[in-house]
Amino acid sequence: MCGITGYIGDDEALPRVLSGLRNLEYRGYDSAGVALVDPASGAITTYKRSGEVDALVDATPEQSPSRCAIGHTRWSTHGPPTDENAHPHADCHGRVAVVHNGIIENYETLRAERDGCTFTSDTDTEVIPHLIEKRLAAGDDPITAVRAASDRLTGSFAFCALVDGFAGLLAVRNDSPLVIGHGDDGTYLASDVTAFLDRTRSVTYLEDGDIAAVDDGVSVYRNGESIEPTTETIEWDADAAEKGGYDHYMHKEIHEQPQALRQTISGRLDIDGGDVDIELSIPSAHLDSLEEIQFVACGTSYYAALYAARLCETLADVRTTVTIASEYDFEGGRDPWRTLTIAVTQSGETADTLSAIRAANQAGARTLAVTNTLGSTVTREVDDSVFIRAGPEIGVAATKTFAAQVSTLALVAVYIGRRRGTLSTARASTLLENLREVPGAVQQVLDTEADIEAIAAEYADSDAFFFIGRAFAHPVALEGALKLKEISYDHAEGFAAGELKHGPLALVTEDTPVLATLTNGGRAEKTRNNIKEVQARGAPVIAATSGANGTHIDERCPVPDVGLLESLVANVHWQLFAYHVAAHKGRPIDKPRNLAKSVTVE
Ligand code: M6R
Repeated sequence: MCGITGYIGDDEALPRVLSGLRNLEYRGYDSAGVALVDPASGAITTYKRSGEVDALVDATPEQSPSRCAIGHTRWSTHGPPTDENAHPHADCHGRVAVVHNGIIENYETLRAERDGCTFTSDTDTEVIPHLIEKRLAAGDDPITAVRAASDRLTGSFAFCALVDGFAGLLAVRNDSPLVIGHGDDGTYLASDVTAFLDRTRSVTYLEDGDIAAVDDGVSVYRNGESIEPTTETIEWDADAAEKGGYDHYMHKEIHEQPQALRQTISGRLDIDGGDVDIELSIPSAHLDSLEEIQFVACGTSYYAALYAARLCETLADVRTTVTIASEYDFEGGRDPWRTLTIAVTQSGETADTLSAIRAANQAGARTLAVTNTLGSTVTREVDDSVFIRAGPEIGVAATKTFAAQVSTLALVAVYIGRRRGTLSTARASTLLENLREVPGAVQQVLDTEADIEAIAAEYADSDAFFFIGRAFAHPVALEGALKLKEISYDHAEGFAAGELKHGPLALVTEDTPVLATLTNGGRAEKTRNNIKEVQARGAPVIAATSGANGTHIDERCPVPDVGLLESLVANVHWQLFAYHVAAHKGRPIDKPRNLAKSVTVE
């Protein structure tokens, strides 16, 4: 989810690459860098800085003779946002510079090979220039060296390299986008067309496995064969292009979920061994004596925490509490040494959550942050951090980060359960297998968008909307209602399905659609009784259902079977429902009134 730019042509490369980085910066990055080739000597010079592109601009020369350069804006996944971790990364001899998107899953194995190489960053990226360097030393030409290096990488990634001996740009795409722009003044390479849309609309999209060599011309190799690249013209304006052709960031981010979730779990699942590889170092003595996990969070993150708490209780057999962060106190009767307090926060900057985690720290509890933002305030205040790797989320309404939070917290639950000896290998393997299937299941739901859009149009003008669910479907009912009220301004409430009859049923009429989540892990058989109660009062029922859970329902939104994670997948229907109701009403979806993406006041 970082941004890659590259340029080769007749004009000065530095301003073009910097302009590309500025065009990508709307995604909210944390460090940036460029590498320039000297046209006389072929030497590569690199400049990089943590912070915004402005900081990099201050560090680069006013003018440079270079006609070939690469650049990068980083959204950190491996290593904090420091100068050293910023891209481009180099080999030991300054012959190779690489900018990279995505995750190299086997980077630890590759780093361990070392072969006399010196690594200067914490990143997964740095293995790439060293692999290329080794192939060059073995006598490969630059294109063969890049191909050989990429053959050794696993994961989803795209990279662009400057390599001594090739006067141009070399690039590889593998499950992460890369596009070539054919300008009058030269050729551009980027992870996203917005980088160069002000220069050219004529583009070639690379496909997975493609290797591109760009110098005076453009060569593309697929399966070892040279192919004729196809060129197309982009019709979008710059604003639409930033949103990938969607009308709103929220819509784009809903659709990014399969890719984001693949990134969340990338390199972290050991399905056969029933274990996970996450960046946690909680001492085993602490886990053995653990009596309680406390979750603290706000808004959507609070609902993700509710889902996670149930996973921890079910899988790790440990007592949990989930507290709205602004209501948190480290209350009596608890032993701080036997408590783990987990802050769930996308931004890592929410004041209420920070205040709760400070209270836990003060009491002496062990603290952990689950966040999307490396280097955020919360990561500096806790003992451990685990990153959800969802990439930047711009829409105020959280969507892909909810899915990535729950998925990451599922990994944490497995980590704790396995180390406490309370979770069997078989059970852990089943959950991890389900987790592996979630991105595909989410895609299946996204593929049915036209159906939920039609349902949204039919019910958009209702008096109010009630979301119901039990167990794992309960947090999803709460989240579904929050999403709808946040962006459509309609009255929406989420209830534990069994609670309806204890009061809220009085509000149910034929003009209050009830949106039910009927999933495995969501006690669907019981929720069906509650559905009958509302149907008897004339309420229309729209149900997200898996397997045979949705028989006798009029409006059925199918959910693939992924065990305890089905409710997480069902939530995508409610995201799309909220989006289309709000779009139908012409609401300012990405910036709803009175709300901010990051709430830094208590
Ligand atoms: O950055 P955080 O996850 O700490 O933010 C917490 C809430 O402010 C946030 O989830 C909010 O509820 C969302 N805008 C809801 O879509």
